[in-house]
Amino acid sequence: MWTIFFTYLSALLLSTLSQEIKKCRERDRPISTDNGDLYTIIDATLHQKLILQCHYCNENDDSRPRNWYKIDKLGLTRPREVQLSMENEMELNRILVNTEHSLIINNFSAADTGLYYCVGFEQQNEEEKYNYLVDLVFDVNATEFETGNISAWVKYHDDYFAPINDMFTQSNGKEFVYIREHLKLSLEVISQWDPWGICEVCGRPTNEGLRKKKGNCRLKINRNSDENTTSNPEELYFLKANAISCKSDRLSLIFPGVSNLTRIIPDFIQDERCEGRCNPDAEGVNKGWKVGKSSSFKYRKTFVLPEQSHLTLVCPESSLENTVIWKKRGKVLKPGDASNPNLIVDTFNTLYLLDVTDTEAGNYTCQVDDIKMQQVRIFVVSKSRLLTQEFIRHLVYLGFVLSLTGTCYCAGLIVTCHRRKTFKTYEELIEEHPEDNDEFASLL
Ligand SMILES: *[C@@H]1O[C@H](CO)[C@@H](O)[C@H](O)[C@H]1NC(C)=O
Ligand SMILES: *[C@@H]1O[C@H](CO)[C@@H](O)[C@H](O)[C@H]1NC(C)=O
Ligand SMILES: *[C@@H]1O[C@H](CO)[C@@H](O)[C@H](O)[C@H]1NC(C)=O
Ligand SMILES: *[C@@H]1O[C@H](CO)[C@@H](O)[C@H](O)[C@H]1NC(C)=O
Ligand SMILES: *[C@@H]1O[C@H](CO)[C@@H](O)[C@H](O)[C@H]1NC(C)=O
Ligand SMILES: *[C@@H]1O[C@H](CO)[C@@H](O)[C@H](O)[C@H]1NC(C)=O
Repeated sequence: MWTIFFTYLSALLLSTLSQEIKKCRERDRPISTDNGDLYTIIDATLHQKLILQCHYCNENDDSRPRNWYKIDKLGLTRPREVQLSMENEMELNRILVNTEHSLIINNFSAADTGLYYCVGFEQQNEEEKYNYLVDLVFDVNATEFETGNISAWVKYHDDYFAPINDMFTQSNGKEFVYIREHLKLSLEVISQWDPWGICEVCGRPTNEGLRKKKGNCRLKINRNSDENTTSNPEELYFLKANAISCKSDRLSLIFPGVSNLTRIIPDFIQDERCEGRCNPDAEGVNKGWKVGKSSSFKYRKTFVLPEQSHLTLVCPESSLENTVIWKKRGKVLKPGDASNPNLIVDTFNTLYLLDVTDTEAGNYTCQVDDIKMQQVRIFVVSKSRLLTQEFIRHLVYLGFVLSLTGTCYCAGLIVTCHRRKTFKTYEELIEEHPEDNDEFASLL
């Protein structure tokens, strides 16, 4: 009983520790107004990992050169190029861009809030906007949300939103009056919807597929006047942003009363019937591995290598955005560690076995985030034994497949380094494409 409890607890801890959010922009998003479409609001919590993609959801990077810019204080500061960490050791880098041009921020802190956007250097489609307004929110219990169909949402709206929205229009409370009459803003609590998830069909009765979408609680901000009603930097944010999270840290600093009311509103997950076919991979039915429920590895492989041959291994189902850990006999192999020239993990987490000898034989494992992904057993045989009857019996006995591989994975690295030279500063970009500046002029 206690064992079960503690296992549950550690699984819970693991899943919070590795909490990360990956964000992309929807190509087919409902565009309300030009201003409303400027950016996607991202709620980030302290110490989490944030990945901002420089392409639309479910699309690939077109590998044209791009760069990230940031406006630290909406309404006050000019855009600047995002300062990337340049440590040799991958783990020490807190802010980095991968080969897909995604911006990765590890261990998120309050100083990381701001408006981030990604721009290409070559003439780019006016419509392409990868802009994210990243705000710090209270770390709330993510399991606390309401769910149901559209009728349930209407009830949720009446229970949680309507009373507060009445206060925004009518309350004589100090903060409400200040917002209405001094700042000349109309605030309204709304659900800002993420796109629908995939239709979950596997394991459900026929014709009872279900899809879900999340409605994030936000305060929509409308200005009722063009006047400069304030010069306070924190309040200026409200004049410039078009919405703010109900759980925003910033909101609690300036309007603690309003924040007390809104921060406790759970988000809403709407579900709806849908039709589709069961696709276990898309639905993550094999997720047992993902939450550490399974004690075994998802993939197993065995290689028998002749002495002095080479083998390159990439951990399955991993991308540059995952944390990949290679181990040999339980000991972590550090990326970039060159102490053993026969055994190298590069900064893209590719494992190279070069000129193998007996000492490279053994049990290798790789882990992707929390998932025990692959176990690889390596046997090394001397060339003299390779083609003997004994060896063939050995193979049959073990049921192994002889495999010789030797690809080079460095190409990506070289391409990236080369491209870095073509990166330009913000000023140079604006000179070349003055029209791109307009979009952000309104934020300055
Ligand atoms: C995250 O950053 C804080 C300071 O903001 C630091 O104290 C802490 O050690 C960092 N955590 C990790 C895992 O790097
Ligand atoms: C989160 O909420 C659930 C359900 O209300 C509760 O069981 C769980 O203990 C909470 N977790 C934390 C960390 O507060
Ligand atoms: C929503 O679900 C309730 C039962 O949970 C049902 O009575 C109602 O008809 C559903 N509404 C819609 C619009 O499907
Ligand atoms: C508002 O401030 C801007 C710059 O801070 C200034 O150019 C503008 O004239 C001001 N407008 C009003 C109505 O005070
Ligand atoms: C907000 O809530 C906290 C704790 O619940 C309370 O101490 C504080 O007085 C409240 N602030 C306002 C302005 O209502
Ligand atoms: C290989 O290592 C894994 C974990 O490090 C262990 O569970 C497994 O039993 C080992 N296998 C062999 C054949 O030594």
